[in-house]
Amino acid sequence: MIPWDKLHGATTHFPSQLGKETEAGKTPLTAENLAVRGRSFFFQSCAHCHGQDADGGEDAPSLLKLQISGAHMALVIQSGIKDEMPSFAKKYNEEETASLVAYLKTLH
Ligand code: HEC
Repeated sequence: MIPWDKLHGATTHFPSQLGKETEAGKTPLTAENLAVRGRSFFFQSCAHCHGQDADGGEDAPSLLKLQISGAHMALVIQSGIKDEMPSFAKKYNEEETASLVAYLKTLH
């Protein structure tokens, strides 16, 4: 059995450790961890149309060989395409959209 005072010591120590981790986790938003977030957004919101591997689905084209700029991708995601693709402006803010773009850029 671990003595109570040790356990107690551990539990009071733990939150400060956690604090350090989240602080470290917040910095810096590199392209790489942006893309990791974008990937999970993609699976939530895009994969059912564009395919799990983004290589096109039944109703939407492949995103693997996009010729458009990142700014244009962001515009498409925010505005949608009339009668083709919904707007995600309400769902994803600027930073979240940027993470989706970062993910799309890793695909080709
Ligand atoms: C309801 C199905 C649907 C969903 C959901 C959807 N899309 Fe689309 N998307 C389309 C269709 C269809 C097109 C092609 C429209 C056209 O070419 O006229 C398209 C086009 C695009 C394009 C432009 C491709 C090009 O070559 O110009 C991008 C970029 C894109 N989608 C990204 C996304 C992302 C990122 C998401 C998720 C946030 C998403 N789409 C969700 C149906 C969808």
